[in-house]
Amino acid sequence: MTTVNETAAGISADELRHAMGHFATGVTVVTSVEPDGSPVGTTANAVSSLSLDPPLILVCFGHDSNTLKAVQSHGAFVVNVLAAPQRQLSANFARRGLAAAWDGVRHRRGRTGSPRLEGVLAVLECTVEHCLPGGDHEIVVGRVSEADTCGQDAGPLVFWRGSYLPLGKS
Ligand SMILES: Cc1cc2nc3c(=O)[nH]c(=O)nc-3n(C[C@H](O)[C@H](O)[C@H](O)COP(=O)(O)O)c2cc1C
Repeated sequence: MTTVNETAAGISADELRHAMGHFATGVTVVTSVEPDGSPVGTTANAVSSLSLDPPLILVCFGHDSNTLKAVQSHGAFVVNVLAAPQRQLSANFARRGLAAAWDGVRHRRGRTGSPRLEGVLAVLECTVEHCLPGGDHEIVVGRVSEADTCGQDAGPLVFWRGSYLPLGKS
């Protein structure tokens, strides 16, 4: 294992990705609305709760993300927490900016207009509270205006060391 002293000189992107890949996360699809009204979304696991009062969560987007641009112009987004059987949805929204990505994706528009996907474990509707710089990513802090859980029996979709893992019932 690499020690603290060995890493002090700096590490490569691959080394950081490899190490952080050992931190298991859930998987979400973050959705918003393009200026022309069309839906947009990206798979994201750099998502965290931040504050209970006020109710804040955060999502980290790469600077080149189309969804980030839409989130910033629309001022609102939805975090859809994926269930174990939804790895196809995750793969679909990890493809860059394709309108076709929405073909056959069952959803309805939420209160702020962003798509709420069907069959997910939880849906958090947010308005943009802050955008903060985070290296090659942008940290978007959202104020949660609505949080719904779907009461499903399925377990979560989990991402660990570059692969999807079902946890519990799938
Ligand atoms: C499991 C998984 C997690 C991901 N998490 C993030 C993330 O947190 N932030 C991000 O910017 N991209 C993340 N990505 C990559 C984006 O989904 C991908 O770059 C996508 O094409 C961006 O689409 P957009 O440009 O239309 O927003 C993730 C991909 C996968 C497969």
